[in-house]
Amino acid sequence: MADKNESFETKDFGWMVAMSILFLVLVAVCFWLEFSTEWGGYQLEFPQLLGHYGKVEDARDFQAGIKQIWIPKIGVTDRCITCHLGYEWSSVLPATIAEPLKPHPMNDMIAKHEFAKFGCTPCHGGDGAATTIAGAHQGGTGWEDPMLSNALAAQNGLTMNEMIQMRCNFCHRHDVATPGMDEINPAKVLFKKKKCLLCHVVEARGGTTGPELTYEGDRNPELLIFTHVQGEHTMFNWNVQHLTKASAVSPSTAMPDFNFKPEESRALTLMLMSWRRLSYPPEYIPDPEVAAAAMQPSPTSTPTPTPSATPVAR
Ligand code: HEC
Ligand code: HEC
Ligand code: HEC
Ligand code: HEC
Repeated sequence: MADKNESFETKDFGWMVAMSILFLVLVAVCFWLEFSTEWGGYQLEFPQLLGHYGKVEDARDFQAGIKQIWIPKIGVTDRCITCHLGYEWSSVLPATIAEPLKPHPMNDMIAKHEFAKFGCTPCHGGDGAATTIAGAHQGGTGWEDPMLSNALAAQNGLTMNEMIQMRCNFCHRHDVATPGMDEINPAKVLFKKKKCLLCHVVEARGGTTGPELTYEGDRNPELLIFTHVQGEHTMFNWNVQHLTKASAVSPSTAMPDFNFKPEESRALTLMLMSWRRLSYPPEYIPDPEVAAAAMQPSPTSTPTPTPSATPVAR
């Protein structure tokens, strides 16, 4: 009897040990799956950072996992914030923190576009659904809207801030000028001044010597003729060189050689490439009158001299 019991106990014990080991292995595998991702490490670091800057409760409440801003009505599923965790903490975290935990730069313009309503990709481009750096920034297969990074902008002689204005103008197209769009605002002036509408139809107005430009940004770059284009064969380069000297790119064109300065051609190109067919609901299209008013210096406030103690350049 005693012998039998003992053998049962040893058997149970053996099973217990086996099950415990299996359990530990499973837990380890789960952790590995979670934290071997590109974002796992950032999510371990982030609560420590919050704690360090005094947000102990938020640090404790932080839950690891894929995070997203989901806005079905504009087709946004932006998981950028799975890594860019500090984005809405600009009032707590310093701007010196390295990407991707760095808080988003904050100013009046950004404040007008709540992250919960606009997500990230409407301004930045990129593949919102991806959870790897390369996938999100460059886009995977079949993705033609890369993120407008510093590197991509530099390739085209622009800064990221300037290139992003192409996307600002998706929505701000009908503003005469918009605060924060210093690159495209002059292009809108130039387009009028050089009377491009003499030969081009834009939104049902203009002449028909040249092709319609209303949705110029949707043009398929594969249909462009690059024979006379210097450098990379991008739609951006085609436009910059064509605007500077149309006859060099399209030898028998009726379009004049405007001989624009490089920065003027780049600005006009950004504007032309922003002219795309949109499916944003009306609440995503800003009122041009509000932008016009915002461009005026406020009539009530008299300019206050900068106190000498405040450093001017930051
Ligand atoms: C898997 C993590 C991860 C995801 C997802 C991610 N990023 Fe990043 N992001 C990073 C890291 C790391 C950096 C800094 C290093 C670098 O530029 O690759 C960065 C840098 C950036 C920068 C600065 C770019 C530059 O050229 O200096 C921008 C802008 C940016 N990300 C936007 C986005 C947007 C928009 C999305 C979503 C479409 C996104 N990121 C998704 C990790 C991520
Ligand atoms: C209204 C447009 C807009 C939206 C929405 C937006 N951004 Fe930005 N973002 C900008 C602009 C403009 C800059 C500044 C570029 C510059 O000055 O070089 C910027 C800068 C950045 C940078 C670089 C930060 C730096 O200091 O250089 C990152 C990273 C970034 N954004 C990520 C995001 C993420 C993630 C989201 C979504 C949660 C987002 N952005 C939403 C317009 C936007
Ligand atoms: C005198 C008439 C004329 C004027 C003025 C004119 N264009 Fe053109 N434009 C043309 C013709 C013709 C073409 C087609 C041949 C070619 O590609 O050059 C063309 C082509 C273009 C294209 C390529 C469009 C496409 O889809 O193939 C763009 C972009 C363009 N013009 C922009 C402008 C801008 C911006 C201005 C004002 C700064 C302007 N044009 C002024 C005649 C004109
Ligand atoms: C997806 C569409 C969209 C994009 C992209 C966008 N905006 Fe806006 N913007 C709006 C809407 C809608 C408002 C009005 C918001 C409100 O007042 O509630 C607005 C408001 C503004 C305002 C306040 C004045 C006004 O016109 O109402 C400024 C300035 C502004 N945006 C600049 C920018 C800049 C700069 C960018 C690019 C970095 C940008 N916007 C990108 C839709 C957009």
